[in-house]
Amino acid sequence: MKTVKIKDKEFELFLTQETIEKAIDDVAARLSNDLKDKDPLFICVLNGSFMYASELMKRVSVPSEVSFVKMSSYKGTTSTGKIKEIYGLEEDIKGRTIVIVEDIVDTGYTMTLMLEQLICDEPKEILITTLLLKPDALQHELKLDYVALEIPSDFIVGYGLDYDGYGRNLPDIYKIKN
Ligand code: IMP
Ligand code: MG
Repeated sequence: MKTVKIKDKEFELFLTQETIEKAIDDVAARLSNDLKDKDPLFICVLNGSFMYASELMKRVSVPSEVSFVKMSSYKGTTSTGKIKEIYGLEEDIKGRTIVIVEDIVDTGYTMTLMLEQLICDEPKEILITTLLLKPDALQHELKLDYVALEIPSDFIVGYGLDYDGYGRNLPDIYKIKN
């Protein structure tokens, strides 16, 4: 089994680039079919989604705008102790069909916050695509429209996802070795 070491942790091969990109083919085909004449704006969430966004957008055949945002993460004074805010969005989304492009939905907390903030700017509709979903970890009610792959709740790296900043450039996905 192919393994990689990142900092103090060992990871083993879990999903090959071929498997991942077959799943992306399917999502892109569905999006291309569903978004005809909708003039969608794809909002890709950095850093994690950069590889998924690039492979997905090459395969989406409808005229689209593509934009990139980040979720800031800093400690606040709310009861949860953490506030995340979207930054980098320059487009006016009022009345638009929005597609959020994420790397992974784990608890769903980040996606829930994103939705709450985007809805304030009155888009026509918001669709969500995520490369990966950990269904067993999900703690928020979310309508995830286009999920490429469902995975167990193990920690993974590669294909945009990092461990402590490293591993994003791996072309396959690896899971942590226990
Ligand atoms: P959530 O807010 O709990 O859904 O977590 C979402 C964020 O946590 C993702 O956008 C990732 O940045 C990070 N994340 C969750 N699971 C993993 C993983 O297995 N590997 C790397 N990053 C992860
Ligand atoms: Mg992310």
